[in-house]
Amino acid sequence: MNANDNILELKNISKFYPGVVALKDVSLKVKRGEVHALIGENGAGKSTLIKTCSGAIDPSEGEIIINGNSFNRMTPALAEKNGIGVIYQEFNLVGDLSVAENIFLGRAIRKGIIINQKAMEEEAKKILDSLNIDINPRTPVKYLSVGYQQMVEIAKAVSQNAQILIMDEPSAPLTNAEVESMFAIVDNLRKKGVTIIYISHRLDEIFRLSDRITILRDGSFVTMLETRKTNKDELVRYMVGRELTEIYPRRSEACIKEEVMFEARGVSGNGVESISLQLRRGEVLGLGGLVGAGRTELAELIFGIEPLKAGQFVLNGQKITPSNPKEAIAYGIGLVPEDRKAKGALLGLSIKKNINMPIYSRISKMFVIDQGRESEIAKMYKKEISIKTPSLDQQVGNLSGGNQQKVILAKWLAADVDFLIFDEPTRGIDVGAKQEIYTLINSLVESGKAVLMISSEMEELMGMSDRILVLSEGRITGELQRGEYNQELIMQYASM
Ligand SMILES: Nc1ncnc2c1ncn2[C@@H]1O[C@H](COP(=O)(O)OP(=O)(O)OP(=O)(O)O)[C@@H](O)[C@H]1O
Ligand SMILES: [Mg+2]
Repeated sequence: MNANDNILELKNISKFYPGVVALKDVSLKVKRGEVHALIGENGAGKSTLIKTCSGAIDPSEGEIIINGNSFNRMTPALAEKNGIGVIYQEFNLVGDLSVAENIFLGRAIRKGIIINQKAMEEEAKKILDSLNIDINPRTPVKYLSVGYQQMVEIAKAVSQNAQILIMDEPSAPLTNAEVESMFAIVDNLRKKGVTIIYISHRLDEIFRLSDRITILRDGSFVTMLETRKTNKDELVRYMVGRELTEIYPRRSEACIKEEVMFEARGVSGNGVESISLQLRRGEVLGLGGLVGAGRTELAELIFGIEPLKAGQFVLNGQKITPSNPKEAIAYGIGLVPEDRKAKGALLGLSIKKNINMPIYSRISKMFVIDQGRESEIAKMYKKEISIKTPSLDQQVGNLSGGNQQKVILAKWLAADVDFLIFDEPTRGIDVGAKQEIYTLINSLVESGKAVLMISSEMEELMGMSDRILVLSEGRITGELQRGEYNQELIMQYASM
């Protein structure tokens, strides 16, 4: 192979943070026109590696070679000039500006000194059409779904003539239908000769899209494989460093008690209609359905985020009407929310503070926090769900995406509530850590708690639930027992 076949080459890249070796001597060659997947556990260094290419951070050591030109460090402008576009997990769009204005942000098409709106809209339309994206360039992006916002990001990169498009967990925030559209765009770009670096924890996607796969572990390069010559088990083995047998660990069947712990009686409001359900002690009740079916909305009602219009909730035989999350927690209800950035963690505070947040009143005496206890609790969860960090005093904002999600989980586990709602609990979490979270959910119900789990991941929903309720358009359309349910049946109810 000719060396010029590599559009991008990373040589011996290292990145050191105080107390953290985020990358250690990583080398990587990306062929022109390929889809190159980058995988590894939470905290393995994937995002850090691509940020060195995009100029978002400087590598401590190493060399970046793009089209044969060598750099010791990049800047965002240099990266753009050299054809690198990045779709980060947090988009960089301006909500009030239109699609066209966002695509040309900072590079507005002008006639003299006046911005030429019309030319910009026409140009944006051309780019969107070329990608088969059907949106009006005049729409303010804040009115677009997450899926469409991401498409605007992709269109922006394309308009900048990106030759290498780097996508960091692009599917994580998308609905299943949106993921399909995103794949179509990726296929389309590949046909146009764009090289793609694709990061994801979902191995199905890796097999669907990629030509080759690079695996990182603990900041180091492990191996590079051709996708058609490998399989899931092998990838997991390389990522985790051990064999993962049953991903859904067994739990004792006998753990479901007769006693009904939680009940919703004809509940309406926040977009859901007449929902009635019962949840027994020791039970994991799964909520299936398409995005927009009302599952998160129901969780918001239970947790007191949104007000009830009709009906009532009963917890341990007592009628409850939580009018805010604080009251819900006092009743013994917890919610691990879907969107970690917006709702779950205080990014500027330490891991330790975040985990202990709901229980400070319990571990304080006369307003003085028992610091020994505080550390002990944080340490325990760090170990139990393997939060990757050199110190529990680290700001949550400095953790890798998946490890931020684990801190939120730990916080709710520490809260020791009776009834826990998980909304998409393992989004962005690697396979090994997923199994640890499932084991924890098992131990929660085995100790007599009850769990309501919302999941769009069909395998997870079926692997973990004792019973599945399917929602569609705010109503329950089906109820399925373990042994009864399969993917087709769930989808059938979900689209009723
Ligand atoms: N600004 C920072 N300060 C300190 N440590 C950091 C900083 N940024 C990243 N790290 C650490 O570097 C390591 C690699 O993080 P990175 O975000 O690259 O992981 P990742 O592979 O993208 O993980 P995930 O799958 O969870 O997104 C982690 O241990 C992380 O905590
Ligand atoms: Mg990451």
